[in-house]
Amino acid sequence: MARVLNGIVAMCPDLGIGRDGNLPWHPTRLNDEFKYFRKMTATASEEGKQNVVIMGRKTWFSIPEKNRPLNNRINIVLSRQLKVPPAGAHHLAPDFCSALRLIDTELSDQADQVWVIGGSSLYKELMHSQGTRRLFVTQVLKQFPCDTFFPEFCPDNYNLLPGFPGVPQGLQEENGIQYRFEVYESIAH
Ligand SMILES: NC(=O)c1ccc[n+]([C@@H]2O[C@H](COP(=O)([O-])OP(=O)(O)OC[C@H]3O[C@@H](n4cnc5c(N)ncnc54)[C@H](OP(=O)(O)O)[C@@H]3O)[C@@H](O)[C@H]2O)c1
Repeated sequence: MARVLNGIVAMCPDLGIGRDGNLPWHPTRLNDEFKYFRKMTATASEEGKQNVVIMGRKTWFSIPEKNRPLNNRINIVLSRQLKVPPAGAHHLAPDFCSALRLIDTELSDQADQVWVIGGSSLYKELMHSQGTRRLFVTQVLKQFPCDTFFPEFCPDNYNLLPGFPGVPQGLQEENGIQYRFEVYESIAH
């Protein structure tokens, strides 16, 4: 069965997503933006199932220890080096395809939506995947110094959706930082 692959990211105008293993705006917190991330990634559409979050090793370790694993979600960490899942993670996969295979086999009875939550190379894998992909982008309108970036994004391959259930419209602001939520869906060519 073809499943939609979702990606969720908050980025600066230069596509920056991180700095020194943290979010670009650290130590400023965007609490409502974080609540949005939690609501979107944790809300399963089928009772009795949980959504899956797939992330790279560095993103896993960028989450404060007390918040790992991300609750009410099946946490899959990708690493080529680790041999066992890092403490608290539910599953380890050696590559993106293996993670998707795990979801379609061992986890098929429990897994609902699939969310790719970073970092850079995971987003790239998502964009190069087959089938429908939805990108939930928080456009942070202020530039912060960044050392990690969202990959090149070809606008011809995506439609900006006029709205999406659960996604607030219009300009948001927290701690003097403005941002807006956008949802892009891949176009089948
Ligand atoms: N703004 C946002 O929305 C957002 C979201 C996520 C992360 N971030 C930020 O981004 C930074 C972390 O992202 P990152 O891009 O540097 O690292 P990352 O993708 O989280 O982690 C990189 C590591 O993941 C493993 N990995 C990645 N792709 C793999 C693949 N295809 N197969 C197997 N293993 C794979 C490798 O681990 P091994 O080295 O163990 O093999 C690789 O070194 C942090 O600053 C974080 O705060 C921001």
